[in-house]
Amino acid sequence: MYNSLLKKITRLRAHAIYVQSKGRNMFYKINTYGCQMNVHESEKIAGILENMGYSDCPENGNPDVIVFNTCCIRDTAERRALGNIGVTKAEKKRNPNLILAVVGCMPQQDGVAESLKERYPYVDIVLGTRNIAELKDEIEKVLSSRARIKKRSDKKYRCFDTEQPQNYLEIDEKTPQTRTSYPNAWINIIYGCNNFCTYCIVPYVRGREVSRDMDSVLDEVKKCVDEGYKEITLLGQNVNSYGNDVDDPNVNFANLLREIDKIEGKFRVRFMTSHPKDLNDDIIDAMAHSSKICNNLHLPIQAGSDKVLANMNRRYDSEKYLQTIEKLRKAMPNIGITTDIMVGFPTETEEDFQKTLEIVEKVHYSNAFTFIYSPRKGTPAAKMEQIPYSVKQERISRLIKLQNKITKEISDTYVGGVFEVLCEDIAPKYEGMVCGRTESGRLVTFEGTSDDIGKFFNVKISQSKSASLFGHKEG
Ligand code: 5AD
Ligand code: SF4
Repeated sequence: MYNSLLKKITRLRAHAIYVQSKGRNMFYKINTYGCQMNVHESEKIAGILENMGYSDCPENGNPDVIVFNTCCIRDTAERRALGNIGVTKAEKKRNPNLILAVVGCMPQQDGVAESLKERYPYVDIVLGTRNIAELKDEIEKVLSSRARIKKRSDKKYRCFDTEQPQNYLEIDEKTPQTRTSYPNAWINIIYGCNNFCTYCIVPYVRGREVSRDMDSVLDEVKKCVDEGYKEITLLGQNVNSYGNDVDDPNVNFANLLREIDKIEGKFRVRFMTSHPKDLNDDIIDAMAHSSKICNNLHLPIQAGSDKVLANMNRRYDSEKYLQTIEKLRKAMPNIGITTDIMVGFPTETEEDFQKTLEIVEKVHYSNAFTFIYSPRKGTPAAKMEQIPYSVKQERISRLIKLQNKITKEISDTYVGGVFEVLCEDIAPKYEGMVCGRTESGRLVTFEGTSDDIGKFFNVKISQSKSASLFGHKEG
């Protein structure tokens, strides 16, 4: 009697889910935190969900699935995501059918997936960085377990063992993708990181380096160019070590750039992130002799003091870094160079910090991303003696002030010149204007409409404002 009643309820529930999915559009919402790699991986999440029949939730619409694609590089990134996950508790109360998924770097950390499930029991799915392709299965499990009014008996989260080899590439190549950044296409070339900088959590949550097959990358670039994408951004935690995990010496980053440069069509190529210890002469040569690889490079320095760099396990010193900059500028005089800098790493004295300011003056970066060091549990630097937060804050404000002055000086050098700009979007703050970048990576705002997105224009620069330029189309 009880069993037949249960079966009947199960059938009714399964039917309700079916009607819900067939009778109206099912919507998804993805909240992305962190780096470009996460933006790219969110495109894969969107691809999986669209393949299942969900569509992107319109503004003010009610999503059926919410995915938090998280970051854990700094405490601030984690707190922002956790705050937003907390807010969805009320949403889940209003709509008990809502499916909540927390994926990516945050739950991949040691012990975090378990504590997430404890602190946020209303979260349905928790997946680590190399488990994203399992999202479809996990959603189906949630739907069918709801239909069966049975608690899910399977493991409550799915993360991967960062120390074990996986067949991840095979899975990833098959994962669908919905691109969201036209005219730019993100293309991942290498997963994971082997460097273990002492402050960084990435190697612990993304595992060891695995390069994609060169032909697969080239096919993807060709496909994107055929589809009309005008900018390709190659992604990896350390793109310069592309191919190091492959036996064939011809599979390396410089050769990948050369092969991409041969692909027909008008498009630009950028890449991130480079590591100063691996940016060798061959890569500089490939960049300098190509027509499609932009004169633009993001080369994180992190600190100016050799002692701090050694404590960070960066495996270069300030002299080697400056030599690389010199070679880059000799080969590409107009190159725009940006960087990442961290202040307040353990052992950083005022004298060490002065060396960071000195190298920033010397290199004259187009722009810099500046960070306050944030201890990450499980990394060597988190166990070292920490610097007071007030000292870090005071140092970063001096650094930002100096970089702002340099950024403006460089912007001023563009005024009066004509530069090719790829129109990327409607300018968010200015009506009737669009924005895009010069080859060197400088943001330019000029008059235009949405029809201009994805087209190249020669723009005469008339004004500069800190990191941004303003101008008019020529011809
Ligand atoms: N604290 C602060 N910044 C960090 N970064 C990486 N780890 C940390 C940390 N623990 C910065 C580095 C890196 C950029 C992506 O984030 O500067 O280049
Ligand atoms: Fe982190 Fe260093 Fe790897 Fe970059 S190279 S992801 S900073 S460990």
